[in-house]
Amino acid sequence: MPELTPDSSLELLFNPELIPEQVKKELPTELHIRPLARTDYHRAHIPLLTVLTQAPDPGLAGYQATFDALLTCPNTYYTLVIVSKETDQIVGVGCVFIERKFLRNLGKVGHIEDIAVSKTMQGKKLGLRIIQALTGISETIGCYKTILNCSDENVPFYKKCGYEKKENEMAKYN
Ligand code: ACO
Repeated sequence: MPELTPDSSLELLFNPELIPEQVKKELPTELHIRPLARTDYHRAHIPLLTVLTQAPDPGLAGYQATFDALLTCPNTYYTLVIVSKETDQIVGVGCVFIERKFLRNLGKVGHIEDIAVSKTMQGKKLGLRIIQALTGISETIGCYKTILNCSDENVPFYKKCGYEKKENEMAKYN
């Protein structure tokens, strides 16, 4: 069974110190929370996303090209993962990306996206910890609000995370 790869030997998407200490403390001891790493293709990041929506395999080269593209936009993409220390596989993931605005004194908004917890690990507060961590990052960066879209079914979950329903989502799929 592979063991947890230490953060020091990974190429990470952002500074791990941005993840709130409180969230790290409240995570079960067998789990580790950290920024997304360039090698997380090998830790089942893509299969995990299928609990959320279709996520066909982009292949290692495609995965790393996207990771590198995110890295070229510093201070913008904060994708984090929860990893099992026993298997070194990802069991939870989420992202907040930062939008810079001209209004509100050149304000910033945090957009939470793509929250997924593996089926066998759901109901253990990992989703809550991911939202707490992403909200903490967004607030530390100075966003005046943090927002997200979700299905009606997930509204009670986000209420438990301290979010409230506001306005409507509009979408046009291509
Ligand atoms: N309805 C009612 N309550 C819920 C629901 C739900 N669908 N989901 C969680 N909760 C409650 C839990 O009971 C818990 O309440 P408690 O504090 O009273 O015990 C609280 O919310 C926290 O729940 P967690 O255990 O942290 O939830 P979990 O780890 O299972 O993560 C998540 C929730 C992310 C929705 C997970 O079930 C999942 O991955 N689902 C499939 C993918 C998905 O729908 N992702 C969200 C898409 S929206 C977006 O990405 C912005």
